[in-house]
Amino acid sequence: MANLDNDIEQILVDAKQLEEINRRLGNQITKDFKDKNLLVVGILKGSLYFMADLTRYIDLPLKLDFLAVSSYGSSTRSSGSVKIIKDIDIDLAGYDVLLVEDILDSGRTLDYVSKMLSARGANSISIVTLLDKPERRVVDLKPDYVGTDVPDEFVVGYGLDYDQQYRNLPYIGALKRSIYE
Ligand code: IMP
Ligand code: MG
Repeated sequence: MANLDNDIEQILVDAKQLEEINRRLGNQITKDFKDKNLLVVGILKGSLYFMADLTRYIDLPLKLDFLAVSSYGSSTRSSGSVKIIKDIDIDLAGYDVLLVEDILDSGRTLDYVSKMLSARGANSISIVTLLDKPERRVVDLKPDYVGTDVPDEFVVGYGLDYDQQYRNLPYIGALKRSIYE
């Protein structure tokens, strides 16, 4: 029987650390959005687990929506061009949007998405990313909330995939290079 754990070189963020991150970010977001009109927009599919857990720590009325953008395919590097595959359903006028991303790498995806959404008349656009690889940034983009930084390695689990696999791992791990090289 294939075991997903065998393909992981090292666990970088375990389930307990993920819970601590979600509690800390959720508490901070609860304070910061107290008097706002919060719309949480998850970028599919990687933000699925993070968004589900994070929003349970946000003690405010809020709405949820989703956006899907073109993905990596089976490569481990971003192509540089971003395409919207599924747009949000809600009219953004009057909302304070919190974009939820799994990992910030080059920054191209969030740069494109946040510009696109702010052009639609939202009150404000903020960004929360579970993971950040600051060394790899090519566009000048600063997230408002970061779970934790990770080294420049390909990571999977808790929503993050390699070739659509490994999303269901209950932790974040570095994928063995032999899997993708
Ligand atoms: P960016 O546009 O280069 O910032 O890429 C962000 C997107 O690339 C994320 O939403 C992920 O889908 C994907 N990505 C970047 N690094 C990794 C990784 O280490 N593991 C899995 N997906 C990644
Ligand atoms: Mg993604």
